[in-house]
Amino acid sequence: MQSSSAEFTHQTVLRDEVVEFVRTGKGSTVIDATLGLGGHSEAILEATDLDVVGIDQDAAAIEIAKERLAKFGGRFTVVNANFSEIGEAVSAGNIAAIIADLGVSSMQLDDAARGFSFRASAPLDMRMNKSAGRTAAELLETSTEAEIADILYFYGEERRSRKIARWISERNAAGEPLRTTEELANLVERAIGKKPSDKIHPATRTFQAIRIAVNRELDVLKDFIPAAIEKLDPEGVLAIISFHSLEDRIVKQAFQRLSGKCSCPPRLPQCMCGAVKKIEVLTKKPILPGEDEQEQNPRSRSAKLRVAKRLI
Ligand SMILES: C[S@@+](CC[C@H](N)C(=O)[O-])C[C@H]1O[C@@H](n2cnc3c(N)ncnc32)[C@H](O)[C@@H]1O
Repeated sequence: MQSSSAEFTHQTVLRDEVVEFVRTGKGSTVIDATLGLGGHSEAILEATDLDVVGIDQDAAAIEIAKERLAKFGGRFTVVNANFSEIGEAVSAGNIAAIIADLGVSSMQLDDAARGFSFRASAPLDMRMNKSAGRTAAELLETSTEAEIADILYFYGEERRSRKIARWISERNAAGEPLRTTEELANLVERAIGKKPSDKIHPATRTFQAIRIAVNRELDVLKDFIPAAIEKLDPEGVLAIISFHSLEDRIVKQAFQRLSGKCSCPPRLPQCMCGAVKKIEVLTKKPILPGEDEQEQNPRSRSAKLRVAKRLI
């Protein structure tokens, strides 16, 4: 249950539930599109005869998972890529299941140097793939006040987005752009204050929003879902665990579209959107972790698992 390397751990969420769905797919190989420290991959390799291809955009996670799963020999292989490129990046066919456990791992959060956390001071980076894209510091320095406010509002559901954005822009205008997680956390705390009744740090939503923007998490998820369905063999299953409402909505809506739900305006006399029933949704409601898991692993509390089966 507990992933491990010398230094880092990550508790795998909804592990048994994911394995049970994976077993129902027809094919010889599973793609773990968010390998992380390899917790789900290990469970599948132990419980089934299937091979596993692990994808991760984080080279550090891949190294740890490779070491952990070396005991499975040629049954386990890795690809260092973004899961939105699943079609081109994975050459294996006969795919029984594809799983995605979205977001960052505890390893990434706990490694202060990665800049994901406001609990330690580090360069403001937040990239899951350290060799591509803009860092959080670069994003904040090159975005307008309105763009920053939109990021905080839409990706962090931060009600005081405009005030925080104004303070960040004022730093940019003064030639003192934010460089560290500590500077950002302090700025947010000073901008919006902290009440004794607050259950979370005032910068929590801001950090989540900036992380989503830096890694384009919602855009790549939108690209991933139809590409993953194409990659599956008929009767293969796609299982996605999301951790916040924005992700879950994207999964739910993509599944509705792929299950043939017409998206035409009601006034049209006939369907023009070309909706085709490609999948059957196996989870009418998302599956949530049981009480025991939620108690033992607080991070699992926001997890939602949705699963679909490819039909044609
Ligand atoms: C929550 S962790 C996965 C943990 C894993 N299931 C386990 O139990 O050990 C998510 C992982 O997915 C990776 N990831 C997130 N988005 C990705 C994307 N778009 N493409 C490739 N990897 C991604 C992250 O780098 C991270 O290592």
